[in-house]
Amino acid sequence: MVLNKIKTAVFISGNGSNLKSLLIFSNKKSAPIKINTIISNNPKAKGLNFAKKYKIQSKIFNFKNQKKAESQILKYLKKNSIDFICLAGFMKILSQEFINNFGKKIINIHPSLLPKYKGLNTHERVIKKKEKYSGCTVHYVSHKVDSGKIILQKKIKILKKDTPTTLAKKVLKQEHKIFPKAVKIIFSIR
Ligand code: GRF
Repeated sequence: MVLNKIKTAVFISGNGSNLKSLLIFSNKKSAPIKINTIISNNPKAKGLNFAKKYKIQSKIFNFKNQKKAESQILKYLKKNSIDFICLAGFMKILSQEFINNFGKKIINIHPSLLPKYKGLNTHERVIKKKEKYSGCTVHYVSHKVDSGKIILQKKIKILKKDTPTTLAKKVLKQEHKIFPKAVKIIFSIR
C-alpha cells in the first residue's frame, strides 16, 4: 500500500476516457498517485462528469487569455500542493513559462507512435499515408509539442479495412492501458 500518494492534477478538454482509466488506476491501493483535481479549459467537456462521479474537485480556466489562465492554474496547483500533472486529451499547448514555473513532472498521452505524427488529426494522416502500424505514446511534456522524452509506447497493426474512426477506437483502448503503466514506470512500481 502506498501511504503518501503523489498529489496529481489531470487536465482534460473532451470525453475524458483516459481520465477515467487514470481514476480507476489511482483508486487502487498500490497506485503511486492520487487524483486531487481535474482541470479543464472547456466547461462543456464530457469528462467533467467523472469529477462528479468520483467526487473530485474540478476547475475550469478560460484560455481566451492563456497567460492569465496559466498563472491562475499555477496558483491553484500550488494551493492544492499538486506535484504531478497528467495531460489527458488536453487540447491547449502549455507555455514554456508554465512548464518551468510548475517545475515538476508533466506527462501527456498522444495517439501515435511519436516522433511520427505529432499534432492533430493523427489517425486521418496515418491512414492516408497507408502506414502498417500506429499506436500511442506517453511522454514527458517539453516546450515543443509532442516532443518530450518518451516513457512508454504501444504499437498496433493497422488493417486494410481500418478507417480513422476504427483506428482511433483501437488506439484509445491501448491508451487506457499504457497511461497508468507509464505512471507506474515513472514512480518505479512494477
Ligand atoms: C486521446 O486520443 C488522446 O491521446 C488525445 O486526445 C484523445 C482524448 O481522449 N490527446 P479522451 O478525452 O481521454 O477520451
